[in-house]
Amino acid sequence: MSSATAPLTVSIDLADRSYPILIGRGLLDDPATWAGLPRAAAALIVTNDVVGPLYAERLRRALAGLYGQVHVVQLPDGEAHKTWDSLNGIFDALLSRACDRKTVLYALGGGVVGDMTGFAAACYMRGVPFVQVPTTLLAQVDSSVGGKTAINHPLGKNMIGAFYQPLRVVCDLDTLSTLPERELSAGLAEVIKYGPIADLDFLAWIEAHLPALRARDAGALAHAVRRSCEIKAWVVGQDEKEAGLRAILNFGHTFGHAIEAGIGYGAWLHGEAVGCGMVMAATLSARLGLLPETEVARLTRLVADAGLPVRAPVLAPDQASRFLELMRVDKKAEAGEIKFVLVNGRGEAVVRGAPDALVAEVVDACTG
Ligand code: NAD
Ligand code: GLY
Repeated sequence: MSSATAPLTVSIDLADRSYPILIGRGLLDDPATWAGLPRAAAALIVTNDVVGPLYAERLRRALAGLYGQVHVVQLPDGEAHKTWDSLNGIFDALLSRACDRKTVLYALGGGVVGDMTGFAAACYMRGVPFVQVPTTLLAQVDSSVGGKTAINHPLGKNMIGAFYQPLRVVCDLDTLSTLPERELSAGLAEVIKYGPIADLDFLAWIEAHLPALRARDAGALAHAVRRSCEIKAWVVGQDEKEAGLRAILNFGHTFGHAIEAGIGYGAWLHGEAVGCGMVMAATLSARLGLLPETEVARLTRLVADAGLPVRAPVLAPDQASRFLELMRVDKKAEAGEIKFVLVNGRGEAVVRGAPDALVAEVVDACTG
């Protein structure tokens, strides 16, 4: 554990639902981190059976002075448990302890815990406050920010959910020290994504600092989390509920979701699927004449160097048809037309359709 340093702060500007993202070391144990949050009779820390044993007691102690009681509920770990059953586990914990509508929920964990806790907060007594305490790189740079909350349905990922903003996001970089290597790489996929869609200088910075990021250098991680959150804040501040612009944050996700669903949730990590999905989306961008081939090669190299897959797994004998079928249930699809987030090599993204035959060519070219 390190001593606290003054956190960097990024603001999400959403009128009366604005909030800060605190980024720094030693934040979990620092009373200043939790100052100004609403007082209540009770708080509930929602975590899982991997993160709970590592950090829940520290968070519970830090919050003890703020609430009459701080309860902890520990859900089973993993994407496979992002379900109604786990959600009910949160409601059971709240109701069995007679938690009232002022109860504050704390999501302590990665994106799975964060998405489920946010959705539980949106539903319990028609809405209770919640705080995100993300402990994976992916959750610190993406899922804890912006208010998308959800659980999975057997027929589709994140299909049941709500937009519901947290009161605060607390990114304690020290928690990343226990993150498995593969999960760190998965988080890097979501960091890389911000470059091609919004900031080529950041893309170049990631290329230059990839070894430091993979070695968990605190300064490099702090910059990566801060710049990622700034870009996400800029997008969400303009389009909270994804009427348009926010869809650019799904660069790599249309192909990526097909991979995750096609091989079975959990076989590839979300970030791994996004890494490969970005290579596929860049390849499609090039075939549509939007992106130079040299930029596809550059992105492919960066994704591979981050420890992520760049070739799609075989999902079915008719690989291209299977991809197209899976991508038609993507949330961006409209009347069966798949919408892709494509990039132009100038740090901008466009969301548009593409001919099935061309998409099929890209799937085949990127497989195996
Ligand atoms: P995750 O929550 O499953 O965490 C990954 C693994 O790391 C888990 O086993 C977890 O228990 C473990 N872990 C977490 N923190 C740890 C730590 N500090 N030390 C050791 N182990 C730790 O996965 P994730 O990658 O954080 O999130 C993926 C989820 O996020 C997906 O469900 C995805 O749909 C969702 N997501 C949501 C948004 C959004 O905007 N809401 C954006 C991107 C992704
Ligand atoms: N992760 C995509 C979004 O928040 O919109």
